[in-house]
Amino acid sequence: MKKIVINGGKPLSGKIGISGAKNSAVAIIPASILCDENVKVYNVPNISDRDALIDILNLLNCETMVKDDMLSIDTSNVINKKIPLELSKKMRASYYFMGALLSKFKHVEMFFPGGCNIGKRPIDIHIKGFEALGAKVTINGDLYTIDAEELVGTKITLDFASVGATINIMLAAVKAKGKTIIKNAAREAEIVNIATYLNNMGARITGAGTSEIHIEGVDYLHKAMIEVIPDRIEAGTYIILGAMIGDNLKIDNIIPDHINALLSKLDDMNIKYELNENNIIISKCENIKPTNIKTAVFPGFPTDIAQPMMVLLTQANGVSMYEETIWESRMGHVKYLNKLGANIKNGNTNAVVIGSTPLHGCEVEATDLRGGAAMVLAGLIADGTTKIISIEHILRGYDNIIEKLKNVGADIDLIEE
Ligand code: EPU
Repeated sequence: MKKIVINGGKPLSGKIGISGAKNSAVAIIPASILCDENVKVYNVPNISDRDALIDILNLLNCETMVKDDMLSIDTSNVINKKIPLELSKKMRASYYFMGALLSKFKHVEMFFPGGCNIGKRPIDIHIKGFEALGAKVTINGDLYTIDAEELVGTKITLDFASVGATINIMLAAVKAKGKTIIKNAAREAEIVNIATYLNNMGARITGAGTSEIHIEGVDYLHKAMIEVIPDRIEAGTYIILGAMIGDNLKIDNIIPDHINALLSKLDDMNIKYELNENNIIISKCENIKPTNIKTAVFPGFPTDIAQPMMVLLTQANGVSMYEETIWESRMGHVKYLNKLGANIKNGNTNAVVIGSTPLHGCEVEATDLRGGAAMVLAGLIADGTTKIISIEHILRGYDNIIEKLKNVGADIDLIEE
């Protein structure tokens, strides 16, 4: 079994370069099959979700090649096939093949996707969108069969500004007849990146990044390139770490506008940093003030950074309130933070964090991707040795996390035990 072992308490200095955004790349890769020629995707993070999506592309007869952070995909001979259970379940983002295959072939057979266990994660809003475009969706247990004679643009108002549904409907609508309008669309930066990619292929999408997206259907999508935007969640994770044990730690290749919600909280907490055009330099703060965190859709405080943020709250002098509003069970990390010495009282979606508490190394579990990142941060600031199990969750979403942390002075290793 793979484990991460950390001997904590070492100050971190030097530079951590941020990789391409997982949640952008995992949509960009499936979106590629819409192209009728070939594509090149740059700044792709080296994470296991990337590899699982490439396995699906290969199943669909796409030729793929990874060179450093570049992924080239020849989609000219793509075929339609049922995506088997084990590939569908490997991650959440497999469901972007629903929108992409529906658009390309008007027929999809795949299973309900996998992903972190942070809530029920229904896909009803995606399905409603496909149906509004003219598709017929048949659900048999976990098997989804989606068919359409033709897809016709229409106005779709999302019940909730879902990231996944916005992207999936955008994919399904790209080649639909006429105009599709998505109202109450999600506004996350990743959505803009994906719309730009599709537009680079010749799609006609406007309004991505606002709550109303317009898509004028086109017939053919030509060869294109895209660069994946920097991962704002990875950046946030390391920025938080810098505030706890940084010594002029530089987090490089960031887009400051994408992390405003986090920076504003750091300001509230008396944490100082130097923000430059595409990097931030941050050091340990000796007098961290408590604050309140309530997750929200973009541009609010991102749910994906909230679990690492809770580690910082344990180091604040006083009481912080924490509320998770997007996922109904994203509190798995709390039990293990308490095991490490934190003082957190929690319900299903709320917590009270009483700080500051020193943390002491012990064995903990990565209950999900961002909960796992929280364990890494906690282990790095704790005294003694922390062992993290179930680390496959972390490797799904953080590019080269061990090497990046080692390079700035962390005593961290991946071991097989
Ligand atoms: N929802 C529904 N029905 C739907 C779709 C969503 O009820 O059809 C609900 C969800 O259950 C949840 C809320 O709406 O309560 C938000 O879900 P959303 O669809 O926005 O999330 P997602 O697309 O499944 C993506 C990221 C998540 C991130 C959320 C919110 C990917 C692959 N995943 O998930 O990332 O938390 O948006 O920003 O892009 C992570 O990276 O650790 C992660 C979980």
